[in-house]
Amino acid sequence: MISRTGLSSLLLLLLLAAACPGAPSFACEDKPSSPGCLKVTRPPVVLVPGDLGNQLEAKLNKPSVVHYMCTKKTDDYFTLWLNLELLLPLVIDCWIDNIRLIYNTTTKTTQTPPGVDVRIPGFGKTYPLEFLDPSKRTVGIYFYTLVKSMVEWGYLRDEDVRGAPYDWRRAPNENGPFFKELQKMIESMYEQYGSPVVLIAHSMGNLYTLYFLNHQPQEWKDKYIKCYIALGAPWGGVSKTLRVLATGDNDRIPVISPLKIREQQRTAVSTNWLLPYNNTWSVDTIFVTTPTHNYTMKDYQKFYQDINFKDGWLMRQNTESLVYNLTAPGVTIHCLYGTGIQTPESFHYDVFPDQEPKVHYGDGDGTVNLVSALRCQNWKGKQKGKIHMKELRSNEHIDMLSNLTTISYIKKVLFNLPLF
Ligand SMILES: *[C@@H]1O[C@H](CO)[C@@H](O)[C@H](O)[C@H]1NC(C)=O
Ligand SMILES: *[C@@H]1O[C@H](CO)[C@@H](O)[C@H](O)[C@H]1NC(C)=O
Ligand SMILES: *[C@@H]1O[C@H](CO)[C@@H](O)[C@H](O)[C@H]1NC(C)=O
Ligand SMILES: *[C@@H]1O[C@H](CO)[C@@H](O)[C@H](O)[C@H]1NC(C)=O
Ligand SMILES: *[C@@H]1O[C@H](CO)[C@@H](O)[C@H](O)[C@H]1NC(C)=O
Repeated sequence: MISRTGLSSLLLLLLLAAACPGAPSFACEDKPSSPGCLKVTRPPVVLVPGDLGNQLEAKLNKPSVVHYMCTKKTDDYFTLWLNLELLLPLVIDCWIDNIRLIYNTTTKTTQTPPGVDVRIPGFGKTYPLEFLDPSKRTVGIYFYTLVKSMVEWGYLRDEDVRGAPYDWRRAPNENGPFFKELQKMIESMYEQYGSPVVLIAHSMGNLYTLYFLNHQPQEWKDKYIKCYIALGAPWGGVSKTLRVLATGDNDRIPVISPLKIREQQRTAVSTNWLLPYNNTWSVDTIFVTTPTHNYTMKDYQKFYQDINFKDGWLMRQNTESLVYNLTAPGVTIHCLYGTGIQTPESFHYDVFPDQEPKVHYGDGDGTVNLVSALRCQNWKGKQKGKIHMKELRSNEHIDMLSNLTTISYIKKVLFNLPLF
């Protein structure tokens, strides 16, 4: 038997040793890449946000507007997302006409409306995902609490913790340059800090991260990625998207009418990309009932017809193969997922699709269905890096980013401390 002091010195020894390559590792797999052992006090981190999860800016020079209140021309870029003032009644019509995408059936890609130039500010910086609203009001706090904690542990914003914002309206097939930038940033952080990088993604950012990793050779991942922390990942899609497409969803922001925001939500390719997949749900699962039809995954084409949004079916078909196979990421992964929050599972319409449905709930984080988050564990045995599953009881999808248990788990991973 080990005495108590014996045990604590053993622990101390392990903790000290864990900072050096080749020492026993607890959380992240060590990579023998750092030139000086002591330099690796903390690995550099890249944050990948989810749907709606980083700021967007726009500059206008439009041939026409939908309403006399709308601005036709601006001298400079302004914040298109998130600025709650643009979402108030009436002016929301201008906003929708600026943020919507137009699907081109020839190129199978989307375009911005004429005269609308949208850009993604702050690649490599954390500000576009710490606060969605640059005026830093209480609405739209996103990665802030996590980044603030990391700074307390010694991290430096925009140095060894950086953000990877992207155009979340689109799916990975239309974000090629983003993945190139992401790869370059990871390689340069590796060179600069002498350590492989930890990726932390939230929500749809995980499908982006998986897509990215699936397109990198294993040798690249072995060299540059220390491990990957996946928060609230909708690996097999989410049920909620069917309601978003049919009736819209104001995400509990009461000033926004769901039927209004529906116009924006439909034209975002990513909404269609996130519809449930048969890699996770049984093909007979009924997601939507109406007086005349029960919609399963086999009825998506009819669903799009019946909600009068046929482009959506084309968007879905263009994007469904992107991560459909759920090929293992090929790096050590920690999947953290919320449970115990009522999560929409199916929708029952008396009047379809223009009236709010009755919602049936199941388990999950309020957005991501548990069954979809749990797909992570299927990678056990399919890759050499370990799969760690961590349930976060009563953690809501967005709130989990600020939860102390989540943040302390992330700290353990980053500093190679024992996980339990
Ligand atoms: C679709 O893209 C093609 C090829 O770039 C272009 O010629 C055509 O004008 C576009 N269609 C619309 C409706 O903008
Ligand atoms: C599952 O979905 C894939 C991709 O949409 C499709 O190719 C396949 O036929 C579907 N399988 C079943 C059993 O429906
Ligand atoms: C939908 O499914 C339910 C339960 O399986 C069934 O009772 C109902 O008749 C179906 N409705 C339609 C319109 O097919
Ligand atoms: C998915 O898996 C199938 C069967 O293994 C394979 O034919 C297909 O190329 C894969 N698709 C992608 C996009 O990796
Ligand atoms: C944080 O997460 C833990 C573990 O899931 C949970 O028990 C706790 O209630 C959460 N805290 C808050 C403030 O939500």
